[in-house]
Amino acid sequence: MKVEAFPTLLYRYHIDNQEAIKNRVDEYYEEFKFKSGTPDQWNCDLFTSYGTGTFPIGECLDAFTPTLDEFQTESKSYGSMLLTDMWLNVYETQNWQEKHIHLPGQWSGVYYVHFDPNEHTATNFHNPIETLLASNGIKQNSITPWVQEGDMIIFPSWLEHSAPMNKSSKQRSTISFNFFIEEETYEGGDTDTEELTVN
Ligand SMILES: [Fe+2]
Repeated sequence: MKVEAFPTLLYRYHIDNQEAIKNRVDEYYEEFKFKSGTPDQWNCDLFTSYGTGTFPIGECLDAFTPTLDEFQTESKSYGSMLLTDMWLNVYETQNWQEKHIHLPGQWSGVYYVHFDPNEHTATNFHNPIETLLASNGIKQNSITPWVQEGDMIIFPSWLEHSAPMNKSSKQRSTISFNFFIEEETYEGGDTDTEELTVN
């Protein structure tokens, strides 16, 4: 019998009607694409709105709210959600982003605005013990979930991840965000105990 003791969970969702976000992102990028570089501490090549305060967060948040509600229910993360950052990354041909984390943060999300699963690669999530595994000859140290345009992945902010080089002529773009859950007492029963029972 095999028992997975400490799994890391990624949550994947899909937003059906994403045309409004896509159009808004196109409009924003058209206006700002020549005005923004990457922050000094980033060692990568892409367009980002990170740290500029120019990205229309409110409009995206409205579209994301039902999905974030679904995440709170599924993850049993009960409490008020506090969004701390949201930004756009655009990867033209040969753009990429190095391995990084989103601290300080509790949860982070990535929403795939422009993404062709036949030409693009989703975010790589790296095993936190990858050097330990490598020293034991285990080479599969990252997971790249299959995603399509309109998908959202929510992951713990401490989990290292990276964006592989975009080798397609098509643009790949994502909206990233960080949030905290201010926990409240949950009175619906301790269902976690039941789920964690090993038979
Ligand atoms: Fe990231």
